[in-house]
Amino acid sequence: MNAMTKISSASADSSATEVRFANESIITSATDPRGVIQFANEKFVEVGGYSLEELVNAPHKIMRHPDMPKGVFYLMWECLKSGMPVCTYVKNKTKSGGYYWVLAVVTQTENGFLSARIRPSTELFETTKEIYATLLDEEKRENLTAEQCGARLLEMLKDAGYPSLEAYGIEALDLEFKARGIIAPDLSSSFLLMDELAEIISDMQDLVNSIEQGFERVRGEPVNLRILAGRLEGAGAALGTISQNYDAMAKEMHSLVGRLHDPENGSLVQMYSAVSQGRWSMQIAQLLNEAHSNVAPDDAATDGAVLLKEHHERLHQRSRARLIEISSIGKSIPDICRSLRRRINGLDVVKLLCKVESGRMRDVDSGLDGIIARLENFHDNTDRHLADLSAKASQVTQKGSAL
Ligand SMILES: Cc1cc2nc3c(=O)[nH]c(=O)nc-3n(C[C@H](O)[C@H](O)[C@H](O)COP(=O)(O)O)c2cc1C
Repeated sequence: MNAMTKISSASADSSATEVRFANESIITSATDPRGVIQFANEKFVEVGGYSLEELVNAPHKIMRHPDMPKGVFYLMWECLKSGMPVCTYVKNKTKSGGYYWVLAVVTQTENGFLSARIRPSTELFETTKEIYATLLDEEKRENLTAEQCGARLLEMLKDAGYPSLEAYGIEALDLEFKARGIIAPDLSSSFLLMDELAEIISDMQDLVNSIEQGFERVRGEPVNLRILAGRLEGAGAALGTISQNYDAMAKEMHSLVGRLHDPENGSLVQMYSAVSQGRWSMQIAQLLNEAHSNVAPDDAATDGAVLLKEHHERLHQRSRARLIEISSIGKSIPDICRSLRRRINGLDVVKLLCKVESGRMRDVDSGLDGIIARLENFHDNTDRHLADLSAKASQVTQKGSAL
C-alpha cells in the first residue's frame, strides 16, 4: 500500500477527502511556548500539504478543523501549562481542504512543546469521535465558552470511565500503541514487564477492595453485640465490653488498610500511577526515537532532529525514574500486611471471648453464634487476602528491580 492514500467521497467534495497515512508514520512538530511552530518533519508536510516554509513560524491553528470542539484545545493548554503531557485525538485540516485524524501526544520541552502524532485505529477512537460530535453540537447550541466546553468534555470522559484527561490519554496511547504493533526491539522486554506489573497491581487493588468490603460487612456487628448485651441485661455485661474492644481494634485496623487503599495517596494508587506514567513516557520516547531515525542524514544536525533525540532521552530517563519508584513503594506493603495480620490475631482473641460467653449462654437463643460465625469468616478471608497481597507486593518489588 502507498504510504499515503486519499479517500474521496462520491460527491468529490474536497472537504470530504480524508488523507490516510501509513501505520508506521510519525508526524512531529515542535513549537515555542505560545504554540508557534518552530520545526515540522517531512511527514507533517506530506500529509497536511503545507510546505515547511508555510508551517515554520505559523500557529498550529492553521490546521485547526472546524469539527473539533474548542474544549479539546482548552483542556490541552490547561494540561500543558501545568507541565503534564497530553494525549488526545485531533482532526486536522489539510491545505487543500481535506482532513486527517491523528492521536496526538504533546509534551513540554525546555523551550516549548513537542508533538508526535500517529494514525488512530481503535474503538476508543470511534467512541471519541462520537463524543466530539455530541460536544460540538452542545457547544454550538448552547454557545459554550472554551472553558465550559472543556468542563463538559471532562464530564463526558468520566461517563465513559475515565476519571481524568490523563487517565484517558494514558489509555488512548496504550491502546493505539498496541494496535499499531510496532515495538522497538530494545524496549520489548521492558514493555512486557510493565504490562505484567500493571496487572499485578490491579490484582492487588482487587484484593484490597475485597478486604474493604469485609470491613463494610462486619461494620454493624459491634452494634449487634451491644444490642444483645442490652437485651440480656446483667448476663450480657461482658458482651458490652467485648463489643467496645472489637469496635476500637477494627477501626484502628481499617485506618491502616487506608494507607494501602486511599484514592489520593495510598500505596496502590501511587504504584499504579507510577507504572502507567512510566509506560506512557516510554511509549512517547519510542515514537520520538522512531521519528528521529527517519530524519534524512543531511538533516541530522538540525535543531528539530537534535530536539527529537534529546527529548527522547529525557522521556526515557523520566520513565525509568517513575518505574524505580514502584519497587520502593512495593517494599513497604509486606510490613503493612504483617502488622494487619497481627491485629487479626487480636480480633481473634476478642472473638474467642465471645465464644466463651456463647458457651455460658447455651440455653438462650441469643443470635451470638451467628455473629461469631460472621466474624470468623471475616477474619479468615482478611488474613488470606493479606497473605496474597504481601506475596504480590514481593513480586512487584522483584519484577520492578529487573526493569
Ligand atoms: C506542540 C503542539 C501541537 C499542536 N498540534 C495541533 C494540531 O495538530 N492541530 C490543531 O488543531 N491544534 C494543535 N495544537 C493546538 C493549537 O495550538 C491551538 O490551540 C488549536 O489549533 C486551537 O486553536 P485556538 O486555541 O486558537 O482555538 C497544538 C499545540 C501544541 C503546543
